[in-house]
Amino acid sequence: TISSLLHSPLSDEKAAETVTVTGWVRSVRRMKNVSFAHISDGSTIHPLQAVLTKEQSENLSMGASVKIMGEWKEELLAEKVEVLGEANPLSYPLQKKYQTPEFLRTLLHLRPRIPANTNLLHLRSNIISTLTAFFVERSFIQCHTPIITPSDCEGAGEVFTITRPENFFGAPKYLTVSSQLYLEALTAAVPKVWTLSPAFRAEKSDTARHLSEFYMLEVEIAFIDTLDPLIALIEDMVKTLIRSISTSRLGKETLSVVGDEDKARVLEGRWKDLLERPWSRITYTEAISRLSSAVERKEVQFHERFLAQTVFDGPVFVTDYPKSLKPFYMLPSTSTTPTLEGGETVACFDLLVPAVGELIGGSLREHRYDELLAEMRKRGMAVGDGGEDEESLRWYLELRKWGSIKHGGFGLGFDRLMCYLAGVENIREAVAFPRWVGRCDC
Ligand code: 4AD
Ligand code: MG
Repeated sequence: TISSLLHSPLSDEKAAETVTVTGWVRSVRRMKNVSFAHISDGSTIHPLQAVLTKEQSENLSMGASVKIMGEWKEELLAEKVEVLGEANPLSYPLQKKYQTPEFLRTLLHLRPRIPANTNLLHLRSNIISTLTAFFVERSFIQCHTPIITPSDCEGAGEVFTITRPENFFGAPKYLTVSSQLYLEALTAAVPKVWTLSPAFRAEKSDTARHLSEFYMLEVEIAFIDTLDPLIALIEDMVKTLIRSISTSRLGKETLSVVGDEDKARVLEGRWKDLLERPWSRITYTEAISRLSSAVERKEVQFHERFLAQTVFDGPVFVTDYPKSLKPFYMLPSTSTTPTLEGGETVACFDLLVPAVGELIGGSLREHRYDELLAEMRKRGMAVGDGGEDEESLRWYLELRKWGSIKHGGFGLGFDRLMCYLAGVENIREAVAFPRWVGRCDC
């Protein structure tokens, strides 16, 4: 590959070697007697320079696929040039000059050829490998959970409903919003599980942080009764990823495509801070007080990004949110930190980070049958009333009947993590083929 050619330079004694390279033309520069072409093959963001005669370069243009045989000596002195697939320069939409992210989103099929997007493909794959090793080392079992489900895990009503073929499953089914409920069942058999699964949300949030289809990394652990092991695991996990990225060639390439030197400095600083500075932890109630003193006002709205960005200037775990803000399955807090209004809180946390906002949500789960049933009824989930959820979540309740265990877990927005670790400003760039409200074109 071009990566191996560029990164393992020939030793002085060694004669030049004959190589064959296949890839795509990134640019051609025609001089009087000789031409230079930059060829990339996706193995690295850096192109290789091929030196060609005028005749050899005749049919080369940006975007064309080529096979070039020649002598490799820090440049490729072409001997044989073959155009595999032409790209008509009059119609090929990618150009060497700057093209806006909005424009490139109309060319999702070609966008992976842009160095920054190529880099994100490498980064995503690398992060998945590192995570897999991370969880194997800690004896977690990777599980697959269903995409088609009968229930709405988060109860937020943001599900996509499957309607065709008519009545296929007898009752409406949905695309999963989270694997959590299934991981809870699995964790009652193998106590440490994780998954990396697509999740779907029909929320009409037209923002730089929301997709309609995204990947969620979820972890569930049995036999825990505080949030501490979850929070410790998350810090360990993100630090392991950053250590692996920041010390590798991939990290250097990531910094070189993040935008400009200022942005590279900021991103490198972010990696360093994340590794070196302690991560903060605060309850929701305390967070509200910190916010009101930060803005010198009594009445404040909880503001995720302001909290992470301005108040803490780094990641912060906010714990024990008001019960009314969270889904039905969360265990009440044991700590005695009521909301400012004296309301109940639940044993949960959100990890908030600068630039991205909410990266992770997690909690302990209600493991007691009666309490869970009461909470579901309170929320109109109609369990036991013959309603729709009675059937669809009966199994979930039954887990609390037979060998119930204290347990908890979390879900991490994988594409948001990509944004955070790679300094990507819009989640629509972090995913090769993004879907968001109103858009699913390619
Ligand atoms: O906070 P959420 O909704 O939590 C759950 O679904 C839990 N059941 C997870 C669990 O405990 N197993 O989603 C988890 C994370 C969020 O923190 C966010 O990072 C990401 O998923 N997320 C999205 N990412 C991109 N686009 C969206 N529309 C997202 N919605 C949530
Ligand atoms: Mg959440």
